[in-house]
Amino acid sequence: MAVRKVIRFPNPILKTPTLKVDVIDNDIKKLVEDMFETMYAEDGVGLAANQIGEPLRIMVIDTTPKKESPPIKLVLINPELLHAEGTIKYKEGCLSFPGLTVEVERYSRVKLKALDLQGEEKEYEFEGFPAIVFQHELDHLDGITFIDRVNGLKRRLALERYSKLQKQYSRG
Ligand code: NI
Repeated sequence: MAVRKVIRFPNPILKTPTLKVDVIDNDIKKLVEDMFETMYAEDGVGLAANQIGEPLRIMVIDTTPKKESPPIKLVLINPELLHAEGTIKYKEGCLSFPGLTVEVERYSRVKLKALDLQGEEKEYEFEGFPAIVFQHELDHLDGITFIDRVNGLKRRLALERYSKLQKQYSRG
């Protein structure tokens, strides 16, 4: 297991849609371990494989640090959205945009299917915070980041805030 480096915006890897996993072999299992370890090291609640440079449709979620809903800890391989309804707004963060939060509107309820680490297809229903995390990570797998979910002035201000934050971080 290893903590991997998280890729930051505007690295083009984050804009590239990921590929379906064909076989869940030991390399994939090791990658999933690294993803959990990296997510915990960075205090995240979700991580997509392309955020650590692996262009595959895998996400990990652990909402335990957010005590507002029953905790969900999952690895989702080749996830597909089956149904979505309602709306919810939330100030999201992203490990690929350190320090930045952006209010994004998403579906409040989702139904999805995905393979687990044993290759079994399972269906899930999430509501509220876990639904937000799932949609944020599913976007990553499609090469979409949270600033692509806001537009106009909101997006421009978020990008300006991020560029200031980056200067702060690089000064240390
Ligand atoms: Ni993110």
